[in-house]
Amino acid sequence: MVVHETTPFNAEPPLAVLARADITPVSDFYSRNHGPVPKIEPRDWRLSVNGLVERELTLTYDELTSHFTPHTLIATLQCAGNRRAGFNEIEEIEGEDPWRGGATSTAQWRGTRLADVLSAAGVTDPGGLHVAFAAPDVSELASPPQEYGSSIPLSKALSPEVLLAWEMNGEPLPEVHGGPVRVVVPGYIGARSVKWVTAITVQDKPSDNYFQAQAYHVLPADADPETTEPSAGISLSSIALNSEILVPEDGASVSAGRQTVRGYAFAGDGRFIERVDVSLDGGRSWRQAELQAQRSPWSWRMWSCDADLAPGGVEIVARAWDSSGTMQPESAAKLWNPKGYANNSWPRARVTVCE
Ligand code: MTE
Repeated sequence: MVVHETTPFNAEPPLAVLARADITPVSDFYSRNHGPVPKIEPRDWRLSVNGLVERELTLTYDELTSHFTPHTLIATLQCAGNRRAGFNEIEEIEGEDPWRGGATSTAQWRGTRLADVLSAAGVTDPGGLHVAFAAPDVSELASPPQEYGSSIPLSKALSPEVLLAWEMNGEPLPEVHGGPVRVVVPGYIGARSVKWVTAITVQDKPSDNYFQAQAYHVLPADADPETTEPSAGISLSSIALNSEILVPEDGASVSAGRQTVRGYAFAGDGRFIERVDVSLDGGRSWRQAELQAQRSPWSWRMWSCDADLAPGGVEIVARAWDSSGTMQPESAAKLWNPKGYANNSWPRARVTVCE
């Protein structure tokens, strides 16, 4: 793993490691934490469901895992800071980890549908309400330090893909990924998939937790995060169409001859990857990559493209298209924002081809 910070633990797999499988092994799955990882035994874990509900609930781990029908779903998680390093080439993003394209991974999650738990609490009406999640890990990033929390609209919370997951790739959910139980909100930025979730509150407005109300907001390029209004900017929820070149990596040297360029493309919330174009001349001409099968409506799609490379320098570029006919924007410079979120510009790999 490429470790950005040890405390809190923040690490991403090298891009070539991510390219090995469309379901990421747990040991290679990126890890994004804002505070120390709490240790909660399943027998001690409780989930409180409260707020605008007909019946408040307190569920044990056994109740959550055995009183509801379990569901399995392959879904990609992606941090809003994925590919931030590309922004640093334009202007340094202060005080944020320089995530490359590995702050995203895909797992098979198993858990209870959040909709089933909300239904047991008598929640039915999606009209304008929000579902807030609370967790016990305390982050020093908030001032004063605050436990992690976030929220999603009730309409999304009632969608069948949103899980309270207790298994990842067929194993009990590891502590660092939120065990014993985390929320998985496919198609939304990873920040909404709250780990170690202990309370769910149905309320009439988004969570006022620092990580919803202030962090994960896209500020205008000329805003100063130190002086700007704390709630300013666009609060991120749905993930934007994105892709990355995993092999060969930017800056790599490869041998002349036949090489396979590989990468991922992810369409986000309710859209699908339709096409990935690859350029071997910096974006002047394009050919279509081969797409691997879509493992689930909520997962990325791996792609590959064979290329005959002659000695010298080559700039490989990719661009993904989704089912709404949208293509990734070309320029990272046009997307640059002070906290470095949502870089979904065309990925580029400048590669030296040796004899
Ligand atoms: N949940 C809690 N309780 N604390 C956190 O710091 N980080 C969030 C989210 N859930 C976080 C959290 C962010 S920003 C991301 S991208 C994902 O968890 C990362 O999940 P992972 O570490 O399993 O990859």
